[in-house]
Amino acid sequence: MTRRRLPTARAGVAVLVSTVILLAACGDQEKGAFTPRGSAAAEISWLFWVMVGLGAAVMVAVLWLLVRAARTPGVDMTHRQRPDDPDPSDETAAEAHARRRRSNRLVIGGGIVLPVVILIPLTVLMLVVAGRISPFTSDDEPVEIHVIGHQYWWEVRYPGTDAVTANEIRIPAETPVRLRLETADVIHSVWAPELAGKIDMIPGEVTYLDIDASEPGEHLGQCAEFCGLQHARMRFLVIATEPDEFDAWLAGESEPARPPEGGASQRGEQVFGEAGCAACHTVRGTEADGELGPDLTHLADRRTLAAGTLTNDRDDLVDWIVDPQGVKPGNPMPPTTLDDEDLSDLLAYLEGLE
Ligand code: CUA
Repeated sequence: MTRRRLPTARAGVAVLVSTVILLAACGDQEKGAFTPRGSAAAEISWLFWVMVGLGAAVMVAVLWLLVRAARTPGVDMTHRQRPDDPDPSDETAAEAHARRRRSNRLVIGGGIVLPVVILIPLTVLMLVVAGRISPFTSDDEPVEIHVIGHQYWWEVRYPGTDAVTANEIRIPAETPVRLRLETADVIHSVWAPELAGKIDMIPGEVTYLDIDASEPGEHLGQCAEFCGLQHARMRFLVIATEPDEFDAWLAGESEPARPPEGGASQRGEQVFGEAGCAACHTVRGTEADGELGPDLTHLADRRTLAAGTLTNDRDDLVDWIVDPQGVKPGNPMPPTTLDDEDLSDLLAYLEGLE
């Protein structure tokens, strides 16, 4: 008797093979949710692998049932009678009864018992993990940092100090940190996958996210809720340092800007005011007190410009000042037209904001 391999069985194998290939691609990713570096991310990662394991077991069982059904004489998924199939009318009443009982067992077992046995423990596990990573359940008094989402950058404030920065959240390592999240405009979502899950910033509401880093290091974050044209270029860095290094950084960041040194720098400060930069940006300790764009008091210390879009070096800074719409179309920063001398003075000033 020859048996045909049915399309369903072949499709099952194709799904299995493509899933394996897709998962193999995840292995190339060096950083992300698969390499947790914080306790919340570790909890989430552990739950994720339990779910992957259970899901894979269910998939294998379903594929096995499909293949078995496809190869059973008398069962044709196209509902056509095959010439070598046994004639159902040959079945005795006892055989028919036994066959119905078998299929009922499969429906009750696979359709009711199995989902209950798998889904109830998974729900309990999920609630346990959600409870452990939720803010307000930890006994430690966390360091609180305010993060305010803007189209398309992050404002970062340290309560009790004058420190304000952008697109970089400095935290002390091995210390619980509570992020107090708000948005200045539309919905955004904070996600640093190596440290914690993500949580939305919702207009008119305050949300919280507890994070911690198990050791000093840098962790990429990304806005995870579509918020407009430049949603994809709304990144941030979480920089975890030793606690004493963090304290020193925070003390420096709280200081007003250093007065410009040298003629070019001093002229640059004037250009900053005259060209309109000061209308949107604050430089603490000067007359510049705009609130629309990032605080630039210690701009030169930052790793990136435009929320992770550019590196903070002279060439990229020029591109950003002269043609911000070419770099990041749709962001609120207007282009600035300056002659070469003014531009070079302005750069000298900005590069001195350490
Ligand atoms: Cu902010 Cu997407």
